[in-house]
Parts: sequence; structure tokens; C-alpha cells
Amino acid sequence: MSEIVKPEKKPIIFSGIQPSGTLTLGNYIGALKNFSVLQDDYDCIYCIVDMHAITVRQNPADLRRRCMELAAIYIASGLDPKKSLIYCQSHVTGHAELAWILNCFTYMGELNRMTQYKDKAAKHADNINAGLFTYPVLMAADILLFQTNMVPVGVDQKQHLELCRDVAQRFNGVYGDVFTIPEPYIAKVGSKIMSLQEPTRKMSKSDPEDTFVALLDDPDTIRRKIKRAVTDSDGEIRFDPENKPGVSNLLSIMSALGAGSIDSLVAELAGQGYGTLKTRTADCVIAALEPLQTEYKKLIADKGYLQGILDENAKTANYLANKTLRKVQKKVGFATRG
Ligand code: TRP
Repeated sequence: MSEIVKPEKKPIIFSGIQPSGTLTLGNYIGALKNFSVLQDDYDCIYCIVDMHAITVRQNPADLRRRCMELAAIYIASGLDPKKSLIYCQSHVTGHAELAWILNCFTYMGELNRMTQYKDKAAKHADNINAGLFTYPVLMAADILLFQTNMVPVGVDQKQHLELCRDVAQRFNGVYGDVFTIPEPYIAKVGSKIMSLQEPTRKMSKSDPEDTFVALLDDPDTIRRKIKRAVTDSDGEIRFDPENKPGVSNLLSIMSALGAGSIDSLVAELAGQGYGTLKTRTADCVIAALEPLQTEYKKLIADKGYLQGILDENAKTANYLANKTLRKVQKKVGFATRG
């Protein structure tokens, strides 16, 4: 049975990133940075979720290019494509097939409660499509196809993961232990990096350029964006996300990038001006992103290599996904395959 983890088998981690828009420092701190650390202790599966991306309108050429770029970014941030499975969601048909089945085990009321759906529906009022509504079901399928034990998600995805667990438990309740119930893996600091201009909102690649640091921004751009980050007027460097969201955000960024604990940073910077805080933050960010950017440039110049990895990994992912999918199809009573 799937939930019995054999001693030699490592727990499975699954995560997905949408190939839409630019990846930000928030994505790096909340997700990518953790990925490479995890790959020795877990079997890691990193999916480029192009099927999720089309829940909002995409330019086809851009979407295709971004999938490749994302593969390069995954590898550049330290993932070893031989150890971890990096592949495109649309190359593995099981995602769509399992999503359909899970749609039939998910209630409208559950999906109606999803805050991301409500946000996106408000933002894309001209295109509130059914895919946007059932987005969390596809995400549940992603996770459950691979008998995932842990999902490293930002806090904004926690609600989706809870839905995934509920649906899996519901299915298991009817048919026996088919799915492993996944647990969230949320980094303590840095799981929520805020916008540089509106520090009470999450840093998001879909907001204007000056609100985020992009993963591939050059040092001058990084310095300029951080220098312009919104702070407050009391001039004191102190960690207080509620009353001082801007300053606290910069401290969180530095701490997440390994500059020390928040307390030690506050002690170190006490009495200094925001100018110093921003210079220090920019230094940290530039130093953290530099190795990734160098590696990325090398990889993206070799499309053949990247395509080879995606093709190879899609085969493995299809094989693993089909093991779960066949079991599920049998349980629900789909016709026997000859
Ligand atoms: N919904 C996630 C996001 O927007 C991306 C995603 C899709 C995902 N499928 C996943 C994350 C499975 C974790 C596991 O960030």
C-alpha cells in the first residue's frame, strides 16, 4: 500500500511553479532556495505547471519560452536534474485525467471558498473560466499523482493544499488507501516576502515592475528597486510587520538570504538610517542571486540540453503518474484495459 514507506525509500516532495510572468525574489526565497537543500533527503519532483498557467490568457510563444526558462532556472538554482524530476505538466497526461476524476469528488462550495479564486476572478473579470475555478483540483491531482508526502508551498497556497488533503481523504474514505495524504512544508522565515511598494501585499510577479525584484534583474536594477522600497516615517529599524511592514520586509529578506537572524540584524542595524538598511539588503540580494544568474545564462544558451532533460524526465514522470492513475481508474470502476 502506498502509505507504507519502505525504509530505503525517501519521502516524496512535489512542487509546482507557473511559467507565467517573471520569477521574483519572493519565489526564490519562498520556494526555489529550499528546493536544492531538500533534494538529498527527499525524492523531489518539480513541475512546470503550464496547464495551470492557461487559466489566465497567455501568449503561446511566450508561454513556451517561459517553460524552457523555468527549467533553466530550476537547474540554475541548484537542482540536479539527475536527482530531481523536473518536467512540464502538459507532457504528463495523468494530470488532466486525475483532475477530472477529482473534480467529481470536490464540492462547488469548497472551491467557492478559495481566496485565490476570488482574487483572480476579481482581477480577470472578463475571463472567469471554469479552469480558474477548478484550478485547485488540478493542483490536487498534481500532488496526489505522485503519492507526495510533502509540498513546499508559500502560505498563499496553504488553502489549496488543505483542499487537496480533504479531497484525498474523501476519496480514500470511499475506496481505501489510494492516496498518500500530503503535508505542507512551509519555511518559517521568508515564506511570505512582500511587495516593495505595498508591503502589506505579497510580492507578486503579476504586479508592476517596481514592486518586486526579478530573479534575473541585474545588480543596478536590484539596487534601484530596493532603494525605492516603501518604508515608513518613524526612522527606526525594528521588526514589526503590523506597524512597520516595509522595514520588516527588508529584514525578512536579508534574514531569509542567510544574513543572520532577524534579532541579530536589528541589533546590528540599530540607530542606523533606512539608507543603510536598503544598501545592506541590496548587497544581500545581489550576492544571493549572482551564482544563479551566471548558471542560468549558460543553461539557456543550450536549448538542446534543456529539451533533452524535459523529454527524459517526462517519461519517468508519466511512468510514476500512471501507477497511481491506473489504481484510481480501477477503484472508480472505469472499464478494464485489455
Ligand atoms: N498553485 C501553485 C502556485 O501558484 C502552483 C502549483 C501548481 C503547485 N500545482 C502545484 C504548487 C502542486 C505545489 C504543488 O504557486
